[in-house]
Amino acid sequence: MFEHLKEQPADKILALMQAYKDDPRDTKIDLGVGVYKDAEGRTPIMRAVKAAEKEWWNEEETKAYVGLAGDPAFSDAMIRLILDDAAPRDAVAAVATPGGTGAVRQAFDLVKMANPGARVFVSDPTWPNHLSILKHMGIEHVPYRYFDNETGGVDFDGMMQDLDGVKAGDVILLHGCCHNPTGANLTMQQWGDVTDLANAKGAIPMIDIAYQGFGDGLDADAAGTRHVVASCPEVLIAASCSKNFGIYRERTGLLMAVCQDSARRPTTQANLAYLNRQNYSFPPDHGARLVSLVLTDDALRADWQAELEEVRRGMLGLREQLAQELRKLSGSDRFGFIAQHRGMFSRLGLDADKVEALRKDHAIYMVGDSRINIAGLNARTVPLLAQAIIDVGA
Ligand code: LMR
Repeated sequence: MFEHLKEQPADKILALMQAYKDDPRDTKIDLGVGVYKDAEGRTPIMRAVKAAEKEWWNEEETKAYVGLAGDPAFSDAMIRLILDDAAPRDAVAAVATPGGTGAVRQAFDLVKMANPGARVFVSDPTWPNHLSILKHMGIEHVPYRYFDNETGGVDFDGMMQDLDGVKAGDVILLHGCCHNPTGANLTMQQWGDVTDLANAKGAIPMIDIAYQGFGDGLDADAAGTRHVVASCPEVLIAASCSKNFGIYRERTGLLMAVCQDSARRPTTQANLAYLNRQNYSFPPDHGARLVSLVLTDDALRADWQAELEEVRRGMLGLREQLAQELRKLSGSDRFGFIAQHRGMFSRLGLDADKVEALRKDHAIYMVGDSRINIAGLNARTVPLLAQAIIDVGA
């Protein structure tokens, strides 16, 4: 049987991780995979998470199953964190999932069950795994223009023109904040326009929110999502705790389906639980438990927010430093967008040859589309990157 299997294309981000590991040069700089690193290059366990882990080690008395939807305390806390009071709680169906990717996958599965003909409109570019999962599942996707390579900003006119092609029942996939891979984000006015368009066409917004707290702050980063939820009858939201709680390997995510009213919730909830059962049965509990402990304990929550804010400000400082260095070296403001972008990533707009030269000649690793992970830098390496960008002729 296995002889019928075909080679699979390597995931570009994961292949880059391996190539970086294999590079013997000690000057190498990793700006690839979206994992937060501090100035020493470590991915720390957040203080509040560690404290919750100790508490839970003392308290936990069984490893028996929790429930198909996961621990309701986790769903409640996450719904509150992301939606605040944008939707009545009894209209929101939710299940814990293995990471944000698990939530994305379950959301597409739900779409397929509810409306097999639905197409998913995706930003061009988007996180490559969105496309890969859609392709694997046989769901048609339609790209919409998003990034203007010249300005480093959002091509909003292009986006709206392309979204004009959505039909009732199609899904519009949006990034809640900190767009991956570009770092360019919608303004609140633009969120309003996209919401109006979705409602006028009868399309369903789906929001992937994986970096809440990494851009402009916890509430500001959720403002677009809250607006959509408050304005549209049905919304899907795939949330990740990997980055803002730093619990990557615990695989902690939540899928929410915001229903038009509480009457639609029980069947939707049952379908989400059904999907969990079919795909992996019970979702992992450990990371979800840590998140709900942190979010529901005032002291832990305050400490988590303070540390998250340090992380956010650190990345903003690196953005500003990089934009400033490039301004100095290039004698122009053409990289000024780096300071305007938000989140972990910025797409620099370099062509593949320059990205390759940066890797070969300078041991600087970034994704082939010139996406950099800002957190892979520190005050010492920012000038090295800026100089290398100029040296490769950008
Ligand atoms: C990324 O975009 O680098 C992260 O979301 C990690 C991943 O799984 O690709």
